[in-house]
Amino acid sequence: MAIRLGDVAPDFTAESTQGPISLYEYLGDSWGVLFSHPKDFTPVCTTELGRVAALKPEFDKRNTKVLGLSVDGLSDHHVWSLDIEETQGVELNFPLLADPNRVVADLYDMIHPNADNTLTVRSVFIIDPDKKVKLTLTYPASTGRNFDEILRVIDSLQLTADYKVATPVDWNHGDDVIIVPAISDEEARILFPAGWKPVKPYLRTTPQPNL
Ligand code: BEZ
Repeated sequence: MAIRLGDVAPDFTAESTQGPISLYEYLGDSWGVLFSHPKDFTPVCTTELGRVAALKPEFDKRNTKVLGLSVDGLSDHHVWSLDIEETQGVELNFPLLADPNRVVADLYDMIHPNADNTLTVRSVFIIDPDKKVKLTLTYPASTGRNFDEILRVIDSLQLTADYKVATPVDWNHGDDVIIVPAISDEEARILFPAGWKPVKPYLRTTPQPNL
């Protein structure tokens, strides 16, 4: 069953490189990023895991816990993690779930049989502190993901959770944002004392409110 935006992320318990993990317990009150890899000892996955490990301080800054998954066993994960450290120059500093029986992969619909019958696609789920799924992303095995983009989305999700704004195309932290159309000009005057640029009645840009 596909997981859609707004759904509650299903809880699970599984083995990981850092011991058994229950998703909800691991996340606590944090945001979370659960992401899958097709297979251990594969080149694109090796670069992705190294990149996420290097970006761990950025995820920490955003109160976000990362959790990888690959449908291989724990002993392979441990050997592979040495390769990741050797080739990517960074230790695997977050848990990688071992899911050889594809329990979590099936729960999160990470196997797309028309792409591959056994390996997972590259799925990403961003989960908020209420355990609601706020973003899903699906990449094919042959295309590595851009984890700077995942951080950018987390910035947007955290901002839009607290303020009645949306973020425009190619927005980055610090750029102007859009006042959501449901807010009247009268309300906007209270909520956005810095004012706004009325490009169109439905397109009002304002400085990022939490800077
Ligand atoms: C990779 O991570 O490099 C990869 C994994 C499965 C299929 C193709 C590439």
